[in-house]
Amino acid sequence: MDKLLIEGGYALNGEAAISGAKNAALPLLCAALLTREPVTFHNVPALNDIATMLKLLAQMGVKVEQDGERVTLQADALDNPVATYEMVKTMRASILVLGPLVARFGDAKVSLPGGCAIGARPVDQHIKGLQAMGAEVTVEHGYVHAKVPKLKGARLFTDMVTVTGTENLMMAACLADGDTVIENAAREPEVVDLANCLVAMGAQISGAGTDVIRIRGVTSLHGATHSIMPDRIETGTYLCAAAATGGNIRLTRTSTSYLDVVIDKLLDAGCDVMQERDAIRLKAPAKLKAVSIRTAPYPAFPTDMQAQFMAINAVAEGTAVIRETIFENRFMHAVELTRLGAKIAIDGNTAIVTGNGPLQGATVMATDLRASASLVIAGLVAQGETLIERIYHLDRGYEKLEQKLNALGARVKRVN
Ligand code: EPZ
Repeated sequence: MDKLLIEGGYALNGEAAISGAKNAALPLLCAALLTREPVTFHNVPALNDIATMLKLLAQMGVKVEQDGERVTLQADALDNPVATYEMVKTMRASILVLGPLVARFGDAKVSLPGGCAIGARPVDQHIKGLQAMGAEVTVEHGYVHAKVPKLKGARLFTDMVTVTGTENLMMAACLADGDTVIENAAREPEVVDLANCLVAMGAQISGAGTDVIRIRGVTSLHGATHSIMPDRIETGTYLCAAAATGGNIRLTRTSTSYLDVVIDKLLDAGCDVMQERDAIRLKAPAKLKAVSIRTAPYPAFPTDMQAQFMAINAVAEGTAVIRETIFENRFMHAVELTRLGAKIAIDGNTAIVTGNGPLQGATVMATDLRASASLVIAGLVAQGETLIERIYHLDRGYEKLEQKLNALGARVKRVN
């Protein structure tokens, strides 16, 4: 099992390039199931989750051709529209094959993802929406089995805002008979990126990016080429790392346009943030000020940036209140940060973080993707060495992490 050994105390300075967005790439790769023609994606990030999704699609019979950041998929004849537990348990986003498989083939068997470290994360809204579109859905032996001769357009309302739920139902509706309206839809930029690709494939979609998405079903979709949007969470993570270490960095191939509320919080913390055409510059203050946050669906503060801001607040001046409203158990990084000397009190979904001077390096354990990022940020600023265990979590969502950090002046080594 790989570990990351970080020698803290070095400010991040210089330039790093941001990769394509993991949470846009995952649904986009599944969209290729909706057509028999080839679909080509550019700016695909080299991440374990992407490799897992490509393996899952290939296992179903999709032709997969990968050349660096370019991937071409062709789902002309599938011989096995099943996503097995072995595949799904390592990556919950596998559930995103369900909608496209039912829409295109009228039959899909996808293992229930099961919980993960940050919460139960059920898929009841995905199922409810497909049933409303006429699919017969049974859940047996841990598998969701959906069958229907042809999906019918329907008016769908999700009980809560769900990103992959919205994406699954939007993809399914593209090939349904008639019109579908998704109310209470997720407005995340990754949903819009997916809608843009589906429209390029011939889908008729309006309202993506708002909470009401309208889809008029068509009989078939054709191939397309799509370049994946930049990863706003990777961008935010590096901005936080530069802020915490007192650095001065420039991130290229990205933009602040999907990070307004995160940029606002970095400005409140005392950072200078400058937007260029497709780059962002951040200059940290000598001392950060604590900033309180409350996570909520886009365009509010993203839950995927909560852990990183807990690390910032651990070394900032003052006290911050962090409210996590999306997932029921997304504070696992708090107890690990405490091992590094952070002062954090947890009360249900609220964490009170009191900046109390420098952190001390220690051995800590990563529990989930964004929690790991928060431990890296803390390790970069802690005095002495920090050893982070179970960094396979990091490899799921951050491309070439140690290379990018070391190029910015950090001292990070992968050891096993
Ligand atoms: C997506 O997960 C992201 N993953 C997550 O990023 C992100 O944290 C999350 O959206 C929230 O923004 C991908 O896009 C691949 P949800 P998703 O459905 O779609 C509940 C990362 O670190 N819910 O929006 O699984 C659910 O339990 C990952 O990159 C139901 O109850 O999240 C949660 O409390 C982590 N029933 C809330 O809704 C359902 O059917 C929001 O979940 C669906 C969701």
